Amino acid sequence: MIKATTVEQVKKYVRECKKKGKSIGLVPTMGFLHEGHASLMKRARKENDIVIVSDFVNPTQFGPNEDLEAYPRDFDADCKLCESIGVDLIFHPTPEEMYGEKNFSKVHVDKLTEGLCGAVRPVHFDGVCTVVTKLFNISRADRAYFGQKDAQQLAVVSRMVKDLNYNIEIIGCPIIREEDGLAKSSRNTYLDEEQRKAAVILHKALSMAEQKALDGETDAALLCKEIAEVIEQEPLAKIDYVEAVDWDELSHTDVIDGKTLFAIAVYIGKVRLIDNFIIG
Ligand code: PAJ
Repeated sequence: MIKATTVEQVKKYVRECKKKGKSIGLVPTMGFLHEGHASLMKRARKENDIVIVSDFVNPTQFGPNEDLEAYPRDFDADCKLCESIGVDLIFHPTPEEMYGEKNFSKVHVDKLTEGLCGAVRPVHFDGVCTVVTKLFNISRADRAYFGQKDAQQLAVVSRMVKDLNYNIEIIGCPIIREEDGLAKSSRNTYLDEEQRKAAVILHKALSMAEQKALDGETDAALLCKEIAEVIEQEPLAKIDYVEAVDWDELSHTDVIDGKTLFAIAVYIGKVRLIDNFIIG
C-alpha cells in the first residue's frame, strides 16, 4: 500500500492508473478508522480496480468551538486496517499541503445545508463540499463511497455532484452499529462508561419509530414526538433536534410521503451524537 502525503504523489499515481484504464474508488475519511469506514472500503474494493482512502482531519469543516484539536487520530492503526482490506493508496496530507498558504475558493450547496446539523454547524458543509471536491479532483475517482450514518452529508454531496455535473458516482452505504445498536463513530471514544450506556437511547428511539413506520404509520410529526419522548427518558441525553425531512431536498415534512429521512442529534453530556433512518 502506498502512503502518500502530497497531492502531486496521488496525481502521479492516478495518471498511471488511468493510462492503464483502471477504475478508481475513493473513500474519504477523517481517520481513526472503525468498522463503519471498513464497510465503505470493502465495498469500494469489490467494485473498483484501485481503492484510494483519504485520511485527513479537515480543519475547514470544524467551527471555532468544535473538536478539531481533540479529534482522535491514529494513523498507524488506520494504515493496518487499510492494508488488511487491500487498499492501494492512503492519502494523509497536512492541512498546509491540502490548502496551501492562501485559498480563496469554496463550494457551497444551498438549502440542503440549512437545516438539521447545518443549523448549528454553519461552516460545516462548505468545508465538507470543498474538501470532497478537492479529493474528487485529486483522485479522479469513478466512484466515491459515503455512509448513511452522516445522512445529510450524503444528501448534500449527492446534490452537489448532480447540480455541478461531477464525473463521479456517489454510493451510499448502510450504517454499521455496535452490538447494542449505537452507530459506530470516531466520536464514541469521547463517551465515558456511563455515557456510553446512555447513548443506546438514540438507536432505541429510532428503531421504535422505524418499526411503527414499517407497520404503516405515516404521521411523521407524531413519530418525531414519540422519538423525543423516548430520548427524554434518559437523564444524560439532551435533544438538539429530532426531525423528519424529505430525502431529495431535506425539507421538513409532517407526513411520510416518498423517501423520508428521520434524523436526530442528541447530546450525551458534551458529546453530540447523530443517527437516523430512511423510510419509503
Ligand atoms: P468521517 O467521519 O471519518 O467518515 C468517513 C465516512 O465514513 C463518511 O462517509 C461516514 O458517513 C462513514 N461512516 C462513519 N461512521 C459510519 C458507520 N457507523 N457506518 C457507515 N458509515 C460510516 O464524514 C467524514 O469523515 C468527513 O466529513 C469527510 C467526508 C471525510 C470530509 O472531510
